Amino acid sequence: MKAVVIRRYGTVEVLQYETVDRPTIKPDQILVKIYASSVNPIDWKTRKGMLQFLSGNRFPMILGFDLAGEVVEVGAKVTQFQPGDSIYGSTSFPGGAYAEFAAIPEKLAAPKPTNLNYEQAAVVPLAALTALQALRDQGNIQSGQTVLVNGAAGGVGIFAVQIAKALGAVVTGVSSTKNLDFVKSLGADRVIDYTQQDFTQEATRYDIIFDVVAKRSPSEVRRVLQPNGIYITTLPSPESLIQSVLTALFPGQKVKFILEKPNTQDLVYLKELIEAGKIHPVIDRTFPLAELAAAHAYSESERAAGKIAIAVASEQ
Ligand SMILES: NC(=O)c1ccc[n+]([C@@H]2O[C@H](COP(=O)([O-])OP(=O)(O)OC[C@H]3O[C@@H](n4cnc5c(N)ncnc54)[C@H](OP(=O)(O)O)[C@@H]3O)[C@@H](O)[C@H]2O)c1
Repeated sequence: MKAVVIRRYGTVEVLQYETVDRPTIKPDQILVKIYASSVNPIDWKTRKGMLQFLSGNRFPMILGFDLAGEVVEVGAKVTQFQPGDSIYGSTSFPGGAYAEFAAIPEKLAAPKPTNLNYEQAAVVPLAALTALQALRDQGNIQSGQTVLVNGAAGGVGIFAVQIAKALGAVVTGVSSTKNLDFVKSLGADRVIDYTQQDFTQEATRYDIIFDVVAKRSPSEVRRVLQPNGIYITTLPSPESLIQSVLTALFPGQKVKFILEKPNTQDLVYLKELIEAGKIHPVIDRTFPLAELAAAHAYSESERAAGKIAIAVASEQ
């Protein structure tokens, strides 16, 4: 099968489009013929070796978490899927989706939303699960609450704005000037241009601040969080780590982290929101698998508005 393989950590040049063996499945796994994948920042962070303490040195390595495709084989213990099923889901760390086939545990997949094509479905899992689990599990979001999403135009942000709206929140999205209308089109009640305005210096207070791009800190946002407000960030820093421990001990404002955990139940929940028309993916650009290096470079620019899709194969 064709796949993009790395044999060492480094710049986009380490991404090599090659022919490799198809993976084989374990009893709890399904073999998926992948039609599409997507790029998430964790893919290029892993490629650069920034997560080497987790990814080790088991080369050759295939990166990529998100996938959408068709089940072609199931392991003996698989109960939810059969060959021919259209699914979307995630690989386990450190990836494997930048390939024509991937073997993944069935518990990381769900039926593909029926109103999405494979490319649209493939950009959903990691980003939308992050948004859902941050707002629902870490933020305990309630209808009527005020939520600020910092980084509203990016892969996670587009889903965070839409999920917060779907769950009844009043949403403020923060982006640069060029993305203000885009963020509004996702349903944000209010938008803030971070190049003109600093939301931490305003009078408005929020129940939840989801710092998707992790550009702010607990001390900066404290005065614009409600007394029982929650600050959620995607990347731990020394300050936020200490604050998460301290704020957990006392009543009042909280500092929390999100660590996305793929699972069937949440993918089914997202599928239902998508099929009900409450949330939808937005693809900024699509690259063929052979041009993954360009897709990684674009993601690393941190300027994508919405998601970056990877076309792996066309539907027969
Ligand atoms: N912990 C976890 O489980 C987890 C899961 C998913 C992602 N993450 C992390 O979360 C971060 C965001 O992921 P993503 O997929 O959303 O990334 P992304 O799609 O690459 O984000 C790009 C967006 O970031 C916005 N942005 C850049 N600088 C900004 C700033 N100073 N203020 C506000 N927005 C800004 C850009 O909008 P403008 O062009 O308008 O500035 C752009 O639309 C990454 O660091 C990723 O590794 C963590």
